[in-house]
Amino acid sequence: MHHKGEQIEVTIADAGDDDKCFAKLEDGMSVFVQGRVAVGDRVSAEVYKVKKNYLEAKLREVLSPSASRVEPPCQHFGVCGGCKWQHVDYAAQLEQKRKHVQDALRHIGGFKEIIVEPAIAALSPYHYRNKVDFSFSNRRYLSPDEMNIDASLLKPLDFALGFHAPQRYDKAIDIDECHIATSEMNKVLETVKAFSQAKKLSVYSTDTDSGMLRNLVVRQSVHTDDLMVNLVTSPPHDAPLMNELLARLNDALGERLTTFVNGLSSRKNTVAFSESEAVMKGDGTITERLGAYRFSISANSFFQTNTLQAERLYEKTLELARLEKSDVVYDLYCGTGSISVFISAHCAKVFGIEMVESSIRDAHANALRNGITNCRFKMLDLKDFGKMESELKEFGLPDVVITDPPRAGMHPDAVQTLLKLAPKRIVYVSCNPASLARDGKSFCDGDNYRLTEVHPVDMFPHTNHIESVAVFERL
Ligand SMILES: C[S@@+](CC[C@H](N)C(=O)[O-])C[C@H]1O[C@@H](n2cnc3c(N)ncnc32)[C@H](O)[C@@H]1O
Repeated sequence: MHHKGEQIEVTIADAGDDDKCFAKLEDGMSVFVQGRVAVGDRVSAEVYKVKKNYLEAKLREVLSPSASRVEPPCQHFGVCGGCKWQHVDYAAQLEQKRKHVQDALRHIGGFKEIIVEPAIAALSPYHYRNKVDFSFSNRRYLSPDEMNIDASLLKPLDFALGFHAPQRYDKAIDIDECHIATSEMNKVLETVKAFSQAKKLSVYSTDTDSGMLRNLVVRQSVHTDDLMVNLVTSPPHDAPLMNELLARLNDALGERLTTFVNGLSSRKNTVAFSESEAVMKGDGTITERLGAYRFSISANSFFQTNTLQAERLYEKTLELARLEKSDVVYDLYCGTGSISVFISAHCAKVFGIEMVESSIRDAHANALRNGITNCRFKMLDLKDFGKMESELKEFGLPDVVITDPPRAGMHPDAVQTLLKLAPKRIVYVSCNPASLARDGKSFCDGDNYRLTEVHPVDMFPHTNHIESVAVFERL
C-alpha cells in the first residue's frame, strides 16, 4: 500500500501538461512528479497525494540526470513560471511537444493511424517575443532560496517589476533580465524600474484599489525598426512625470524608441488593458510585417507574439489549404484578420468571423492598409454560426474553411454548422492538442472527413505550449 510521505525512486517517462512529469513504479502504479525534472531523469521523490490509480510526488533529488538536460541560461529559472522547460535541450522539447500532439490525437480523438510530423522549430528559441508584459507589484515574490536570507540584504520587499509567480496574482517576481525578450526590452525594464524606485512612485494594489504603476508593456517589431513602450498607470495622466520618463528612455535607447504611450486604466484588476492612452512620442502604434503584409498594432491590439513563427504557421496553413484561385474560404475565429489577409491573394474571397468588436475593426483596417478588397469580416459569436445561413449563401458557400479557435476549441453548434456547410477541406489551427483531438473526432465521426496531416509549430520555446495545423479532407 502506498502512503503519504513515502520516498520513491523513479525514472521520468513523459512530460506532463503543466510542471508535473509522468513515471511508473515497478508495481505498475503511475506517478506524477512535480519539480524541475526532465524525461530520462532518475529521481527520488516524496509522495504527497495517494489516489486509487496514481500518486503525486514532489522531487527531492535528481539521482542521475537525463542526457537531454542543459544548463538554463536564466537566473530566474525555477521561480518564474514563464519558461518551465529551459533545462531541456531544444531538440528534446520539440520531440516532447510532437509526442504530446500525437498522444492527444490517439487517446482523445481515437486517431490511431495518424503520424504527427516533427514540430517546426523556432528559428531563434531565445529573444523571440515581439511583446512582453511586465507587472508592477508592491509585494515582491520571494523564491525559496531568498526565504532564508536576512531581509536587510535583499532588494526591497515592497516593489517588484516582472512577472507574477505561478498562481500568485497578488505578488510579482522582480525580473532583472528575461531571455525570451529582446535586449532592448530588457533595457526598458531596467530604465523604468530605476526611474520608478528613484521617484518612489506608488504601485497599484487590488487590495486597496489605489496606487499608480500597473503594467509595463513593450512591443518591438521584428521586420521594421518600431519599438513601443506602454506604461499602464491609474489615472490621472501626469504629463510632466511621463515626459521625464520619456527623456530617460530616450537616453537609454537612443533612436530605438519610436513611440511612448501612457495607458490609463481604472479597473480593479492587474490586466494590462487601458481604457484610454496619452501618446507622448510617435503615433501610438508599431508596424509589423507578416510575409508581404503590414499590420498596424496599437497598445491594446491582439497580435501573434512570435513574429517569425507566426509567418511559418501561416505559410504552413496556406500550403495545407491547397487553395485554388476560384475558392471561397471562411476564416473562423479570425481575430484581427491576419490569416485572411495572408491567404487573400490565393483565392477568390475570404469571410472572416470573430466575436471581439475591436478585432473586427482591426481586421477591416488591416485589409484596407494592404489594399485587399476580397475579404469580408463579421462580428459574431460562433456558437450562433447556424443563424448566418442566408448571409453565408449570399456570400458563397465555402470550398475551404480555416478555423483557429481559442484553447477551449470550437462550440459544438459551430462544429455542426461547419459540417453542414461541407467544405472540401478544413484546416484546423490549434493551440490546444486536446481540443483539436475532440473537434477532429466530431469532424470524422460519421465518415464525413479524414484527418490527413498534422504539423506542430513551436511558437513558444521553453514552455509546454504547442500550436498545430491539421488537415481534414472531405470523403
Ligand atoms: C487563437 S485566436 C486566433 C486569432 C487569429 N486567427 C490569429 O491568427 O491571429 C482565437 C480568436 O477567437 C476569438 N473567439 C473566441 N471565442 C469566440 C467565439 N465564441 N466566437 C467567435 N470568436 C471567438 C478570440 O477573440 C480570438 O481572436
